[in-house]
Amino acid sequence: MEINVKKLEPKQIYKLMTSIIVPRPIAWISTVSKKGVYNLAPFSYFGGISSEPPLIMVSIGSKSPGEKKDTWKNIEETGEFVINMVTKEVLAEMNITALPFEEEVDEFEKAGLTPVPSTVVKPPRVKESPVSVECRRYEIIEIGKMGVVLGEILNVHVRDDILNEKGYVDTTKLEIVGRLGGANYCLITADNTFELKRPDKE
Ligand SMILES: Cc1cc2nc3c(=O)[nH]c(=O)nc-3n(C[C@H](O)[C@H](O)[C@H](O)COP(=O)(O)O)c2cc1C
Repeated sequence: MEINVKKLEPKQIYKLMTSIIVPRPIAWISTVSKKGVYNLAPFSYFGGISSEPPLIMVSIGSKSPGEKKDTWKNIEETGEFVINMVTKEVLAEMNITALPFEEEVDEFEKAGLTPVPSTVVKPPRVKESPVSVECRRYEIIEIGKMGVVLGEILNVHVRDDILNEKGYVDTTKLEIVGRLGGANYCLITADNTFELKRPDKE
């Protein structure tokens, strides 16, 4: 079967893309509004795009035509955000923060999560998440209806018990959640990860 994307409606394209580009990591983004309200929401159009400089990208849509999602608006207005990784333990809370709350609503409070001060940026990190990444806006590129946020990584918090003896993060010690199509998710577990060394050239 072949699918001519030019003949699809935007919703069908979204469904197709999100069911074939899998698994996607989830950036659970905390921001603070200009008025000082804490905001938290998940985004899976997310990826690392450069190590020199250390950059990530997150693509954010609108609530309704012309009304940017709060995360996009906050990053545009304040220039700072924190990406918290989602594990199995905080799945239910992550799902609550995906609801379209008004911008006056503190989503940490709504989801029963604990804000902890970050080191170099104003938005707090999520205490219940084992990895939090403090970022500064590098650029926001408006592409079609999306705001593609490029963020520079400034500071990373990693819970001590997930480090190995060499000081690297051992992902098998976490149960990080990935997003699949529709309402489906996957878990990175020790049972499901394996090593694949590159073959020799000769
Ligand atoms: C797992 C997951 C991934 C999501 N990924 C995105 C995404 O990449 N881009 C986007 O615009 N919305 C995404 N959403 C929807 C937003 O989280 C949702 O619209 C949220 O209410 C935005 O909150 P805000 O207005 O506080 O920024 C996702 C939702 C879930 C549950």
